[in-house]
Amino acid sequence: MVNVLFVCLGNICRSPMAEAVFRNEVKEAGLDHLIYTDSAGTGNWHIGKRPHEGTLEILDKNQVDHTKITARQVGEKDLTDFDYIIAMDASNLGNLNRLKGSNKSGEIFRLLDFVPEAITEDVPDPYFTGNFNEVYEMVEKGCANLLTYIRKNENI
Ligand code: 4NP
Repeated sequence: MVNVLFVCLGNICRSPMAEAVFRNEVKEAGLDHLIYTDSAGTGNWHIGKRPHEGTLEILDKNQVDHTKITARQVGEKDLTDFDYIIAMDASNLGNLNRLKGSNKSGEIFRLLDFVPEAITEDVPDPYFTGNFNEVYEMVEKGCANLLTYIRKNENI
């Protein structure tokens, strides 16, 4: 199994959106028996909560399943349990690298590393901007390109 973890700050807006979109793309590619998808937040405020209304709304609009997604906090063990760890922004990336310390871990990326033409390197936080449409477009593109990358890398 290839394990993929999306990470943002609160785990209620961006990373659960990416989790749902990526899982959907994996399922459509017929690879759900080979790729496991999850998400987590660096912060602990929303543990156990369902995604933000804005995230649920845009997933519904695009007919992407989001049942069973609840927030949790990322822990040190995730860094070895997961093969691909995908941060939404530079701040998440910094936090993950601090958590990792000098230990071995899965590869840590930023989602927009996979979208070279993107106008920004960070997925903006819609909890503060309110713009879930903009984030959805970035997430969709990033996840599609990530899947292509993983398929090539893992020969699947
Ligand atoms: P997310 O957005 O990291 O995309 O889930 C946020 C959600 C909640 C908070 C910050 C960012 N918060 O401060 O509660």
